[in-house]
Amino acid sequence: MSAEPFDEDTITGLVADATAAPSLHNAQPWRFRYLGGVGVLRLYADLKRALPRTDPERRGLHLGCGAALLNLRVSAAAAGLAPVVRLLPDPADPGFLAEVHLRATAPPDQALALLHPAIHRRHSSRHPYRDEEIPATVREHLCGAARAEGAQLLFPGAWHVRSILELVWDAEGQEAEDAGVRGETAQWARTEPSGTAEAPDGIPAEAFGPRQRGTAAPVRDFAVGRPMPGRPWASFEKNPQIAILGTARDGPAEWLRAGQALERVLLRATTDGLVASVTSQPLEWPELRWVARDPVSSMAHVQMVLRLGYGPQGHPSPRRPVNEVLDIV
Ligand SMILES: Cc1cc2nc3c(=O)[nH]c(=O)nc-3n(C[C@H](O)[C@H](O)[C@H](O)COP(=O)(O)O)c2cc1C
Repeated sequence: MSAEPFDEDTITGLVADATAAPSLHNAQPWRFRYLGGVGVLRLYADLKRALPRTDPERRGLHLGCGAALLNLRVSAAAAGLAPVVRLLPDPADPGFLAEVHLRATAPPDQALALLHPAIHRRHSSRHPYRDEEIPATVREHLCGAARAEGAQLLFPGAWHVRSILELVWDAEGQEAEDAGVRGETAQWARTEPSGTAEAPDGIPAEAFGPRQRGTAAPVRDFAVGRPMPGRPWASFEKNPQIAILGTARDGPAEWLRAGQALERVLLRATTDGLVASVTSQPLEWPELRWVARDPVSSMAHVQMVLRLGYGPQGHPSPRRPVNEVLDIV
């Protein structure tokens, strides 16, 4: 591989793919810096985009940044590169999340490169899904995607799904009573149609999906308590197919790993013709997050609840332009 610095277009392309990653309330809490002389792309947390009430520990922030890192690796693999990643390289600087050395000389990871077309096709789908079971082989692909990133994906049994749904409803109740959390949701999730002057971040009204008749599926209602004239109602699938993603340990490095695993699972799901939405609601309250575990599995810390299935694609949410999140030095 060439020892020449990568050109601006290549770096911009990698970062454009990275920023298509999911993030809590689409806050996009990341920044990138390319050090041309040494061929290193650095990932930083953008702490101005943290959500102190919803995500006080910044676990969700790290998950989103981890997801962006996975996209960056997929993009690099598709460009024929084999980057070497160091997580949290500077303990003295908690905002410095990862360093990606682009000049490694190993062959690119083909399994990652195959996921590249899914990066811009993947959108959270908050629509009802069909009552169609995901085949065991497809589930196994998804579990394998999580394992490849050092995490575990589990499709819980019926009692555990029921208990996760109950935790989502408990979390909804707690959110409703917490003006700080409600304020953050209202700040990032806009109920008015975006029209021509779409903001470059946050969740547009078009991506909320319909209002749920009954409460079968764990889909966050970003408009709860706020009027949205004309928003339709719909019945969701009776038996939502839920998976939980988790890790053996907890902490910033594990959250970055979990974020990479989350995005790898979502890209794999997209590649396999599935749609997905995620919910972190029960994980945003420590006492509920603890109960979300499966006591008979080795997964000690639940990092995300996923809903997967077959159904309509989600509406794309905007992203900030690359020149706002990348500087090249
Ligand atoms: C840590 C984290 C937590 C999230 N929590 C939720 C959630 O509770 N409910 C939901 O519908 N989406 C959730 N999302 C998805 C984001 O809202 C979504 O990724 C973002 O709005 C961008 O939209 P996109 O996924 O369509 O690109 C979460 C994403 C991350 C990374």
